Amino acid sequence: MKVKVSRDIDSVRQCIDQWRFKGRKVAFVPTMGNLHAGHLHLVEQAQNSADKVVVSIFVNPLQFGPNEDLSAYPRTEDEDRQKLEHLGVDLLFLPTDSVVYSSGASTVVDVGDLSGRHCGLSRPGHFSGVATVVCKLLNIVQPHQLFLGEKDFQQLLIIRRMIVELNFPVQVVGVPTVRESDGLALSSRNAYLSGLERQIAPLLYQSLVKAEGQINNGRRDWDALEKEQMSSLERAGFKVDFFSICSADTLLPAASDNQVWVILVAAVLGQTRLIDNIQVLRSDL
Ligand code: PAF
Repeated sequence: MKVKVSRDIDSVRQCIDQWRFKGRKVAFVPTMGNLHAGHLHLVEQAQNSADKVVVSIFVNPLQFGPNEDLSAYPRTEDEDRQKLEHLGVDLLFLPTDSVVYSSGASTVVDVGDLSGRHCGLSRPGHFSGVATVVCKLLNIVQPHQLFLGEKDFQQLLIIRRMIVELNFPVQVVGVPTVRESDGLALSSRNAYLSGLERQIAPLLYQSLVKAEGQINNGRRDWDALEKEQMSSLERAGFKVDFFSICSADTLLPAASDNQVWVILVAAVLGQTRLIDNIQVLRSDL
């Protein structure tokens, strides 16, 4: 069956008001399109949890920096629509820039210090762009649940924080990262890797697994552990942006009383910036 497509805010709201009136639980999966198996997994998880699933495809200009090529971002609307149709998604929201951002709009959402670390340092303004668009999409769709991938761990944390601090009545569901059989996290950016880079790329996840193993074996010399993994990635051909062992709640450096740690990595391979993470659940507390 064809997926219902809305391109304007009124028709999205009308559709969702009707579902809500009938007591249906609505889940929302925001995307920027170019859908891969990781996105489709998010949609399936949403379908398992709610009665109706809304997906948005919007390449958000606000989250691209001046040196990031917004116009080169892959737009694959027809293929994306077919994939969502195949899964039986209930509503596809496909707004244009002017539907989302009225001309002269100046309001932005900035989730303070969480946005300034890690990816926020090399991509200034990125997380404010993400928080602003997710805030707007939530106000438009008004779902009961929001599904986001754990691969973008910092993004997930920032959106969780925004939702608590701005009192959105929505439950955030973080979905574990989908990986290729060799461990590489699924990402639209993997398509930019050359054949050789694709062979090297799984080392990123392997470095996380190695560090996790050593932490589980009792290692706590964070600086040395981070440096070791960074050096081994650099030797393999990555240009490492950061390899950081942090509190999974605050993204501050890991402390002994944190319940969960997260190891975050971002590195450039050739022209492609890849990110990944692994959570380390404390068994020693
Ligand atoms: O993760 C993404 O694809 C985007 O950052 C999101 C959450 C859809 C906001 O544009």
